[in-house]
Amino acid sequence: MERTLVLLKPDAVQRGLIGEIISRIEKICLKLVGVKMILIDKELAHKHYSAHVGKPFFEDLVDFITSSPVVAMVFEGNNAVDQVRSVMGLTNPLEAASGTIRGDLATSIEFNLIHGSDSIESAENEVRLFFSVQDLVDYSVDVDKWIIES
Ligand code: RTP
Ligand code: MG
Repeated sequence: MERTLVLLKPDAVQRGLIGEIISRIEKICLKLVGVKMILIDKELAHKHYSAHVGKPFFEDLVDFITSSPVVAMVFEGNNAVDQVRSVMGLTNPLEAASGTIRGDLATSIEFNLIHGSDSIESAENEVRLFFSVQDLVDYSVDVDKWIIES
């Protein structure tokens, strides 16, 4: 089953939006299989955002993501990567559709509340970066027969 990494960024934690954002992801029937609150250090931030090294916003991005705790989560389900990207909305909240997390709640491209893996390959790498295998819980829920395509 497909998995994806979600980070509730420092602005989401500081603004008291943890519950609101998790609720929106739960409502699209993705299953939470791992969760922890952590303070990301510079080394982890550089690894996580390695694709952006050298870009003009890179240092600000690292400073922001390491500035205060984040909630790291793994969600599992059909098309989990694309489903989370869809409910997140576009990177810039000004371009994100109404009804998406960023479109409704985020304040700027820097303070955009949530990270979601952008491909199956990055999801696998990012889940491994933030969670060990024993941190993730394998369980079934009774409504799966209404959610999981056979
Ligand atoms: P994220 O990785 O944080 O989930 O966001 P994303 O996929 O929507 O966007 P990405 O292109 O991966 O960029 C990572 C973060 O860098 C900041 N950014 N600033 N000023 C800019 O042009 C710019 N572009 C990207 C954003 O905070 C974005 O979330
Ligand atoms: Mg990204």
